[in-house]
Amino acid sequence: MLHDRDRIFTNLYGFHDWRLAGARARGDWDNTAAILARGRDGIIAEMKASGLRGRGGAGFSTGLKWSFMPREIGERPHYLVVNADEGEPGTCKDRDIMRFDPHKLIEGCLIAGFAIGAHVAYIYIRGEFVQEAHHLETAIAEAREAGFLGPDACGSGWAMEVYVHRGAGAYVCGEETALIQSLEGKKGQPRLKPPFPAGVGLYGCPTTVNNVESIAVAPTILRRGGAWFAGLGRENNTGTKVFCISGHVNTPCNVEEEMGIPLRELIEKHAGGVRGGWDNLLAVIPGGSSVPVLPKEICDTVRMDFDALREVRSGLGTAAVIVMDKSTDIVKAIARLSRFYMHESCGQCTPCREGTGWLSRVMQRLVTGEARLEEIDILEQVTRQIEGHTICALGDAAAWPIQGLIRHFRPEIVKRIKAREGLGRAAE
Ligand SMILES: Cc1cc2nc3c(=O)[nH]c(=O)nc-3n(C[C@H](O)[C@H](O)[C@H](O)COP(=O)(O)O)c2cc1C
Ligand code: SF4
Repeated sequence: MLHDRDRIFTNLYGFHDWRLAGARARGDWDNTAAILARGRDGIIAEMKASGLRGRGGAGFSTGLKWSFMPREIGERPHYLVVNADEGEPGTCKDRDIMRFDPHKLIEGCLIAGFAIGAHVAYIYIRGEFVQEAHHLETAIAEAREAGFLGPDACGSGWAMEVYVHRGAGAYVCGEETALIQSLEGKKGQPRLKPPFPAGVGLYGCPTTVNNVESIAVAPTILRRGGAWFAGLGRENNTGTKVFCISGHVNTPCNVEEEMGIPLRELIEKHAGGVRGGWDNLLAVIPGGSSVPVLPKEICDTVRMDFDALREVRSGLGTAAVIVMDKSTDIVKAIARLSRFYMHESCGQCTPCREGTGWLSRVMQRLVTGEARLEEIDILEQVTRQIEGHTICALGDAAAWPIQGLIRHFRPEIVKRIKAREGLGRAAE
C-alpha cells in the first residue's frame, strides 16, 4: 500500500485550499526555476528514468514522447496540448486533479512545455467540466500574477502561456488527433497517423499531446527524482496511479495507489469492498469501458498494472475500475457499452461506422436471447475485422468489451439463447 509520504496528489479529495497559497504550502511551484535550469535534455532524461507511462490509456512512455519533438525550434512554433477530455466511461480522475490540484497541472505545463520547446500550452477540457475549467482559469491567473507564467516564467527566461479550451462533448475528441482538429475549430475527427503530432500537429506544427495526470505528476517526479518514481511499482510499470473505483462497491472513490496493487486489495482497502462481499463479485472492467471485462477468478489474484492486465488479455487503460456484482446482467451491461461506441463513432471508417452499429444490434438480440447460437462466433469474427482496421482506436474500443464477454461469459449467452429456443418450442 502506498505510504502517505509517496503520495503526489495530496489534495485529491479537496479537503484543503486548491488555490495558489494552498498549493504552495503543499510544495507546488517550489523553486521551479531550478528544475528548468536542468535544461530540456536533463528534464527529458529524468522523465525517461522515472519510467512514467502515459496515463491517458495507451501507456506510452512520457519521456520518450517528449524526446520526439524536434530539437531545434524552427519557423513552426511547438505546442503542448493537455488532454482533459476525460470521456472514457468510468473515468473521473482528471476531473478531481483539475478541481482540487489545478496548480500541479499548470506547473506541469510549464515544465513539459519547456522540455518540448513550447511557449504555449492548451488544456482541452471536456465542456461539462464547468467548475474544473473555472478552477483552472483562476489558477492560471494566479500563476501569471505571481510571475510563474508569462514572459519570464519563474524567472527562468522562458516565456510560457497556458490557455483553457472547452470541448463540446464528443468522446472521440479525446483521441489526440481529433482533439487537435477540434482545437483548430474543425469537426472533431481523427486524422490518419503518420504524420504523428510531434511532426505535424496543432496548426501543422510540432505538438505533444498528454493526459492531465501525465503532466500533473511531472513536477513531483522532477523534484523527487526519476529513481524515486521508478522505485514504486515494478519494472516497466512504475510509480503511482490514480484509480477510479465505481459500480457495486460500498464506497466508490478515486484513490492514488502504487502501480501493481492487487485488484482485490484496491477494492477492499479503498472502496469498502464489493457490495455483499468478495464472493458476490461477478466481474470487473479494470481500465475504463474500452478494455475487456474480467471474471471473478481472474480478479481474485490479478495486479493492477499495464503488463499484468495485458497478460490476462485486458488492459490498465485509464485505470477506471468498474465493479459488477452478481446482480448484474453482464450481457446487458456490455450491450450498453456497444450502444455507446455506435453513438460515438465519427463515421470516417467503414469498419467502425458500419461495424459498431452491427455489433450493437446483435448485442441487443443477445440480451433477449433472440439470436442464433452460430451468431456468437460471427460476432466474435466481426470484432476481429474491426479491431486494427480503423483510423483511430475507437474501433478497437468497440471490439474489446465484446471479445471479453464472449471469452469469459459464453455459457451465459448460450443459456439465454437456449432458454428462448425452449420457449419457442413450448409455444409450438
Ligand atoms: C476514442 C478515444 C478517446 C480518447 N479519450 C481520451 C481522453 O479523454 N483523455 C486522454 O487523456 N486520452 C484519451 N485518449 C488517448 C489519446 O489519444 C492519447 O493517447 C493520450 O491523450 C496521450 O496522453 P498520454 O501519453 O499522457 O497518455 C483517447 C483515445 C481514443 C482512441
Ligand atoms: S475508428 Fe471510428 S471513431 Fe475512429 S476515425 Fe474511424 S470511424 Fe471515426
